[in-house]
Amino acid sequence: MTALLRPGTDEDADGFIRLIGDCWSEYPGCILDVDGELPELRALATYFREAGGALWAAERGGRVVGMAAARPLGHDAAHEICKVYVDKAERGTGLAHALMAAAEAHARDAGAERLVLWTDTRFEAAHRFYEKRGFVRQGSIRILDDISNSLEFRYAKPLTGLAVEALDAAAAASAERRLTDLLVACVADGASLTYLAPLSPAAAQGYWKQVSSQVALGKCVLLAAWLDGEMVGTVQLLLDMPENAPMRAEVAKLMVAPQARGRGVGRALMRRVEQTARGIGRRVLVLDTRAGTPAASLYASLGWTELGTIPGFELGPDRQPADVVFFWKALG
Ligand SMILES: CC(C)(COP(=O)(O)OP(=O)(O)OC[C@H]1O[C@@H](n2cnc3c(N)ncnc32)[C@H](O)[C@@H]1OP(=O)(O)O)[C@@H](O)C(=O)NCCC(=O)NCCS
Repeated sequence: MTALLRPGTDEDADGFIRLIGDCWSEYPGCILDVDGELPELRALATYFREAGGALWAAERGGRVVGMAAARPLGHDAAHEICKVYVDKAERGTGLAHALMAAAEAHARDAGAERLVLWTDTRFEAAHRFYEKRGFVRQGSIRILDDISNSLEFRYAKPLTGLAVEALDAAAAASAERRLTDLLVACVADGASLTYLAPLSPAAAQGYWKQVSSQVALGKCVLLAAWLDGEMVGTVQLLLDMPENAPMRAEVAKLMVAPQARGRGVGRALMRRVEQTARGIGRRVLVLDTRAGTPAASLYASLGWTELGTIPGFELGPDRQPADVVFFWKALG
């Protein structure tokens, strides 16, 4: 039986305080001092209502076993997700996803275009959860100067419609798990992306770790696309060119989750990667892909010039030699 999700009330104070205290006690050095540092926990529904936000409680057998809240930030059409806690015994049941889905739906209905949240740098399980839901690290660490000596990461994601953003090294590292799922799904679907199915998640994650370090070294621009808050696509601009070719870059590893195809994500990623290249003075772009694929049609429709086809240049999903077509584009 799943827990009951309902609006949180001020009368839930004892339940919320016990739940947060239990969660913090899993991490050495995390001390909950309600009256000294978080007095709002005594009337949390009022606190979020006055901030224009909302609070949820999950209850089982009269006991609070989960909570989440959301509030507008008053700038950038952004909402902050706050106070996401789930009782240890309820983890892995989908309750955390249900709480986040409620908070995200509320923010969307309130007109938010972006979600942000802060999470203690020690709460690694929470990081994995937020990353799974498409959040990426953004900006620098916040120092709380509290008795727990808390340091917090900021996570964020676009919430509505189709959005493409560049990931810096921290964001890229935080996106590795989601990008791993994406690469594994696209390779399983037969994509021309270097690997042959079945691609193990460990090998895919190793690949994305290399990409994160290339981003950190300034040798690669990594773009990600979100559709309605879910990270569904990516592409790279490879910048590590010979000394005599500073005007050149290669577009690589364009991929869109199979269930998100045909909705303009691939086109948006390609437009943004071209715009990025132009912005940093890379005027001549090259790429290649398997002949006859949707990707080849996309590049042609975006004005890329087909250079030619090399027969049997890679293995297709059936492990038989397949033709590869090369494209180039000069940016005005
Ligand atoms: C290629 C890929 C990125 C396209 O992503 P997408 O989000 O579905 O593309 P879009 O919805 O933006 O479509 C843009 C254009 O691509 C072309 N296209 C997309 N899917 C197509 C298909 N199944 N058949 C033919 N053309 C197709 C069309 O020109 C389309 O324009 P239109 O919608 O005006 O007809 C996606 O199919 C993919 O991830 N494929 C596997 C990975 C891969 O092969 N990557 C290339 C590495 S070089």
